[in-house]
Amino acid sequence: MKVSQSIITIITLALIMPFSNAYDPSPLQDFCVAVNNLNGGVFVNGKFCKDPKQVKAEDFFYSGLNMAGNTDNKVKSNVTTVNVDQIPGLNTMGISLVRIDYAPYGQNPPHTHPRGTEILVLIEGTLYVGFVSSNQDNNRLFTKILHPGDVFVFPIGMIHFQVNVGKTPAVAFAGLSSQNAGVITIADTVFGSNPPINPEVLAQAFQLDVNVVKDLEVKFKN
Ligand SMILES: *[C@@H]1O[C@H](CO)[C@@H](O)[C@H](O)[C@H]1NC(C)=O
Repeated sequence: MKVSQSIITIITLALIMPFSNAYDPSPLQDFCVAVNNLNGGVFVNGKFCKDPKQVKAEDFFYSGLNMAGNTDNKVKSNVTTVNVDQIPGLNTMGISLVRIDYAPYGQNPPHTHPRGTEILVLIEGTLYVGFVSSNQDNNRLFTKILHPGDVFVFPIGMIHFQVNVGKTPAVAFAGLSSQNAGVITIADTVFGSNPPINPEVLAQAFQLDVNVVKDLEVKFKN
């Protein structure tokens, strides 16, 4: 009985394991420079690859990350993304980059990257950064005050944020372990969905007065 059970377990694992290597696929060739040709509605996990013989240095190049994004918005921050959409050569490489600018007292509001861990280095200014672990880990908050040269990691999927707590602008760069890490900004997603989530549902979920939810849904309407 026990023996046959472990045999079944081993066979099941052997069947599952080839499909359980998640995250971005490992490259199966030197490179797979992306093309945005979706003729015939065929989709692959990532993008189609350009004929390697047609690949040029430009496919691996981006210019302009020396320039600050415009922080004249509600949260007073701006993320400039350099992923596979900007550098097609990042296709299948499992990595990308962002520049984040923060006006004084601006913030990159609570959000999560569904497909990537983030490693951030502060170049200028002072940031208060943090992430919250999952329910299973009792939603513990991990925070640090960062000064130039300091590095902080936001593990994949965790809700995290950065706040400029200084009187001067702040600049950070971050690497992400995906060619397209994705962003889910919590407030925009929950209160600004299209169409809106029923206010009664959110009132109960967030323990708020339904009128407060309606007000938030107007504010975040997109
Ligand atoms: C971020 O900055 C860019 C470049 O200045 C600008 O085009 C874009 O609208 C800004 N985004 C936000 C959300 O303010």
